[in-house]
Amino acid sequence: MSTRTPGADAWDDRYSSSELVWTLEPNRWVVEVLADVEPAGGRALDLGAGEGRNSIWLAQQGWHVEAVDFSAVGLDRARQLADAAGVGDRLVTVVDDVVDFTPAPGSFALALLCYLQLGQSERLTAVRNAARGVAAGGLLLVVAHDSSNLEQGTGGPQSADVLYTAQDVLADLGSELADWEVLRAEVVERPVEGASRPALDALAVLRRTAAG
Ligand SMILES: C[S@@+](CC[C@H](N)C(=O)[O-])C[C@H]1O[C@@H](n2cnc3c(N)ncnc32)[C@H](O)[C@@H]1O
Repeated sequence: MSTRTPGADAWDDRYSSSELVWTLEPNRWVVEVLADVEPAGGRALDLGAGEGRNSIWLAQQGWHVEAVDFSAVGLDRARQLADAAGVGDRLVTVVDDVVDFTPAPGSFALALLCYLQLGQSERLTAVRNAARGVAAGGLLLVVAHDSSNLEQGTGGPQSADVLYTAQDVLADLGSELADWEVLRAEVVERPVEGASRPALDALAVLRRTAAG
C-alpha cells in the first residue's frame, strides 16, 4: 500500500477548487540556494512542480525548465502562469508520476524536489532518478517538510510516513553519494505568519562531482 498522500486525483481536485493553492512566490530556500547560480541556458528539472511557482522563477532566471507533476490541473495552471509571466517558452510540462519519470542520465544542470512528500520507497526512487539526471557540476536541491516538523514545527503533512530529513536524502543515494559533494544537509527554520513557532524544513544541496 502506497503512503503517497494524496494521489493525483486529489491534487487535481485541490488545484481545481481554488484560484491558487500555493503562493506565486518561489520557495525561500530555492531562491537562497539558486539566486547566485548562473543558469547559462541550462536545463532544470522541477519534480512535483504543482502550480509552478519555482519553475516560473527558475525560467525567469534563464533556466529552461521541465516541470513534472502527476496533476494535469496543476501543470495547466503552471503553463498559464508562465505564459502570463512571459516565460512560457522556457517551460515544458510533463504529466507523470515522479516515481516513473526517468530523465536521461546527465541531461539536467539542476534537479529540484520541493515539498514532494512521498513514502520512503517512492522517495528513494524519485531522488535516485532525479540525481541520475544531473550532469557533472550540476546541482540536486531537495526541500521538504522535515520529520521534526511534526512535533516541533508548524503546518505541513501530519503523517510521519511522508516526512523525511536531509540525511534521509543522502541515504537515498546509497553508494552513488560518492559522486556528490554535499553542500548543505540540515534542518532550516521557515517563519510562518501568525504561528508561534517556525516550520522546520529539510534542506539538502548537493553538487555532482563525477558523471554517474
Ligand atoms: C506540496 S505540492 C508542492 C508543489 C511545488 N513543488 C511547490 O513547492 O509549490 C506537492 C506537489 O507534488 C505533486 N506530487 C505528489 N506526489 C507526486 C507523484 N508521485 N508524482 C508526481 N507528482 C506528485 C502534487 O501533485 C503536488 O503538485
